[in-house]
This record gives sequence, C-alpha cells and structure tokens, in this order.
Amino acid sequence: MKEKRETYARVAKEVAAVIDGETSAVARYATAACLLSEAFGDFYWTGFYLVDPLKPQELVIGPYQGTLGCLRIPFGKGVCGAAAKSLKTVLVEDVHKFSGHIACDSKTNSEIVVPVFNSEGQLAAVLDVDSTSLAAFDQDDKIGLEAICKNLLQDALS
Ligand code: SME
Repeated sequence: MKEKRETYARVAKEVAAVIDGETSAVARYATAACLLSEAFGDFYWTGFYLVDPLKPQELVIGPYQGTLGCLRIPFGKGVCGAAAKSLKTVLVEDVHKFSGHIACDSKTNSEIVVPVFNSEGQLAAVLDVDSTSLAAFDQDDKIGLEAICKNLLQDALS
C-alpha cells in the first residue's frame, strides 16, 4: 500500500533526524519505538529486545511502547528468539499457529520481528512489533522496518 510505504519513509527520516549525533543505543531504540508507535495506530506493541552482553544467547527487554512485555527470551524461543537465532526477519500472520510463540499479551494476533545489527555486523537487538489483528504485517512492513533497523546503530557507541 502506497500510504504505508510513505509513512515508513517519513518515520525513517524522523528517526534519523532525532538520533543524529546521539551515541547511546538505548536512546536510539527508544526514539524508533516511540516514532513508529505514534505513526502506526495499529501497532499494539512496538519495542526492542537486546542481546544481553552477559548472556549472549539471551534477549532482554529494551525500550518499548505498549503493555508489559516479558523480560527475557532465549535465542530460539518464540518469534523474537527465532529472529535472533536465524538473523532474519520473521513475519507471523497468526501467532497462535506459531510453535513456541510467547504470549506476553493475549491480545496479540500477529507480529513481525526484525534483527538489528551493530556497525560490525553483529546482532545487537531485535525489533518486535505486535498487532491485535490477524495478518497485520506484509512485505511493506518488512522493507520499512528493516530500513529503519539498518540505520539505527550505524554511528552509535553503546
Ligand atoms: N510474542 C513475542 C514475545 C514478546 S512480546 O510479544 C512483547 C515472541 O513470541 O517472541
């Protein structure tokens, strides 16, 4: 849908403008979560799970907008863990049919999870977006969210 692609292009510019010169990764994640959540009314939960430096095979909750998220997700568990393990975007039309889905909030029906890489190409986090609608996300979301995640940590220091 053209309108959705235009919204992603606008949000990407907004995120880039706000985080320009900001060296804190957490500040960058918080900015992206807020601006995405504000731009898309049907994003029910929008946020980041970060690779825990003390437990490199585990994700820990980072900045998010939405209802209470679970705190930790091991690599390979749930949709976030699948994206962290495969290093690829995972798009789930119906979470109830996804084996191992972690239901932090029973209202979620579909979700998309996008890996975030640091400037050295290592996995730093995943961006998780949930919707209460079934099949809310498509290739436009994948392309739009991947573009934002690609630029998120390019010049961050932490
Ligand atoms: N549903 C996710 C867990 C995170 S919450 O939805 C915020 C998953 O299965 O990875």
